[in-house]
Amino acid sequence: MNCKITPVEGLREPTTLSTIPGDKSLSHRAAIFGALALGKSSFQNFLFSEDCLNTVRILSALGCSFSMDKDKKTICVEGVGLTGFRSSSNQLDVGNSGTAIRLLSGVLGCQSFDSTISGDSSIEKRPMKRISEPLSKMGIVIDGIKKNGNVYPPLQIKSASKLSGMTYELPVASAQVKSAILLASLYSDEETTIIEPEKCRDHTERFLSFYGADFREEGTHLICSGKKELKAPFSDSAIYLPSDISSAAFFIVLGCCTGNGLKLEGIGLNPTRDAILSVLKRMGANIKITRKDNGAVEPYGDIEVRPARLVNVELKKEEIPFLIDEIPILAIASLFAEGTFVVRNAEELRVKESDRVSTVVNLIRSMGGNIEEFEDGFCIDGNKTSFKPFKLDSHGDHRIAMSGIIGAFSGGVPATVTNCTCINTSFPNFFELIDTLFPNSFVIQ
Ligand code: S3P
Repeated sequence: MNCKITPVEGLREPTTLSTIPGDKSLSHRAAIFGALALGKSSFQNFLFSEDCLNTVRILSALGCSFSMDKDKKTICVEGVGLTGFRSSSNQLDVGNSGTAIRLLSGVLGCQSFDSTISGDSSIEKRPMKRISEPLSKMGIVIDGIKKNGNVYPPLQIKSASKLSGMTYELPVASAQVKSAILLASLYSDEETTIIEPEKCRDHTERFLSFYGADFREEGTHLICSGKKELKAPFSDSAIYLPSDISSAAFFIVLGCCTGNGLKLEGIGLNPTRDAILSVLKRMGANIKITRKDNGAVEPYGDIEVRPARLVNVELKKEEIPFLIDEIPILAIASLFAEGTFVVRNAEELRVKESDRVSTVVNLIRSMGGNIEEFEDGFCIDGNKTSFKPFKLDSHGDHRIAMSGIIGAFSGGVPATVTNCTCINTSFPNFFELIDTLFPNSFVIQ
């Protein structure tokens, strides 16, 4: 699917967007924790996107029962308990989702049956040694395609006879890796301690506590005492999953660069996810945040943005894990700012849905921006931006596709972005929102 954009004047009136979809990381975890717990869990504002639906399909193939209402955005799961899954005769398919393959591998290794799990051509390029190595220390054997000293899907996951605890220092600040280990640690009689080099998104830790696991945090140490059934939180009403700040980010940047004010409602404000807001504020953005949560599982609120004069900044090493998914759209914002935008210590970008250092460099150059590539990042000279019509291949990466489209509307230049089906992995109503803001300004071919 390709998107051909003919920019029109839009965004003259202040506009409110109340349907930014549910958080992807939270939706995966809601399905997984709901499935692993005893009892019934209901969630509101679940993300009905391809990535999260693949997690639901896999858990269903393992014997878990879900009821869903896509229009109401609700999902209800009848948990089977830690060991209640049954073997699936088919290879499990995560599609494009790195979160699904890594988190589910931690669970699958602890079952009484072997499994095979894989995904699309992008997943087959995602390194899995980062999970197979720590999980092997706990007794889980994961085999895959061995290449360049790493392991790639399809993964064959052997049933572990006994799960050991361990103390493990994470070599990369990765929520997917720590979550795979934390989920496996639920099956061990022994204590597991993970030491984080830098803090990164903490949704799994919050879910562990919420579901009654024996889990605690001591500084940089995450400690799970193991074997205890999880219990679905007793509640008459569904648990609200805030909207995804990583999806909101596209419209936050749009509202910072053009128009007359955009308000985004119900957006997740977890402090391990919201660094895009502090970075944009440091750049001079006009952003107002109103907290709306009241004892919810995760903080959320409304975000209002207006265009302002922006000045580029250098991202700090410790904030990279807190905005790892927002770097492509921040690169678009930097084109509208004076001075140099510097991203270093971000080699993790190279192993995302695409090599995002290389796809961001390609995106910025196609649009007429001035960018220099480094092994661990890039820098953009905002003073040298000269927007021009462009054609961009997303390389199957949803965040690159959406960044290109927002770039075209913000810069007011015609563009064609090819390979856009991937947007459905995280933001199924993206084009609907674009159409609300810029009617009759694009065609899908
Ligand atoms: C995610 C963690 C991040 C992020 C991804 C979702 C998660 O990946 O990029 O989109 O839900 O745990 P890493 O843990 O590999 O950094």
